[in-house]
Amino acid sequence: MSELPADGVLPDKRQVAASFSRAAASYDAVAELQRGVGDSLLERVPADLAPQRWIDLGCGTGYFSRALEQRFAAAEGVAVDIAEGMLRFARERGGARAFVGGDAERLPLREGCCDLLFSSLAIQWCANLGAVLGEARRVLRGGGVFAFSSLCVGTLGELRASWQAVDGFVHVNRFREFAGYQAQCAASGLEVLELFTEDRVLHFPDLRSLTHELKALGAHNLNPGRPGGLTGRARVRALIDAYEQFRQPEGLPATYRVVHAVLRKPA
Ligand SMILES: C[S@@+](CC[C@H](N)C(=O)[O-])C[C@H]1O[C@@H](n2cnc3c(N)ncnc32)[C@H](O)[C@@H]1O
Repeated sequence: MSELPADGVLPDKRQVAASFSRAAASYDAVAELQRGVGDSLLERVPADLAPQRWIDLGCGTGYFSRALEQRFAAAEGVAVDIAEGMLRFARERGGARAFVGGDAERLPLREGCCDLLFSSLAIQWCANLGAVLGEARRVLRGGGVFAFSSLCVGTLGELRASWQAVDGFVHVNRFREFAGYQAQCAASGLEVLELFTEDRVLHFPDLRSLTHELKALGAHNLNPGRPGGLTGRARVRALIDAYEQFRQPEGLPATYRVVHAVLRKPA
């Protein structure tokens, strides 16, 4: 089992924030998979949970803040994101009572302040999952729920393998092993109600459409140590040829290995 090394492997947080801020305006148009994942996470929030306050952690454009507001009309919502540009975009569209800049590993929130912490496809950007889980435990009231979706190893495996064949470099954001999620959730002091992975596969007509979409989402490779400089025409050609090996009748596949988790703080 390999947990992510603590530092230096995931991109710098300022870079993550800047990249998502730049992507705020283009994100919703290409976020079909993200909406599907978040919708299914929302369905997994226990039906009998009636939060007084919910938090949408890594709210992005606020799509799920608005969905949470609809589902829990009587509750007060707080949307949190590390990217100011995303928060600005989300704030204009409403959904939450407050929009707060903050980091999932160090939440600017009081102990025991909420009954539902909801986070869809954000914490894969955090190197320290233990810190995120510790913060969840701190800010939840007894009986409160942390529902999150994330990504694990296997995500964008076709792109990773294609680059590997071209130059042996990691050009794809790194992801934690599912076994790491299992071990850390088991050790979190939260009760694990659900924890499983599911593959969602998108298809693209060509490689250019896939890489454009990653950029529009703000999720293109930000790894430290990524090779800089121009991508030569020969290398692009080699990458296209390598990716073509994966082609299916529907197009070029891009697999997202999604982790779904529902955890509860003991009462
Ligand atoms: C892929 S978007 C998902 C947005 C939204 N939850 C959705 O499903 O549409 C990921 C979001 O997580 C935010 N994010 C990344 N790292 C974060 C961190 N450490 N703390 C809080 N937000 C973070 C990004 O700025 C971005 O807005």
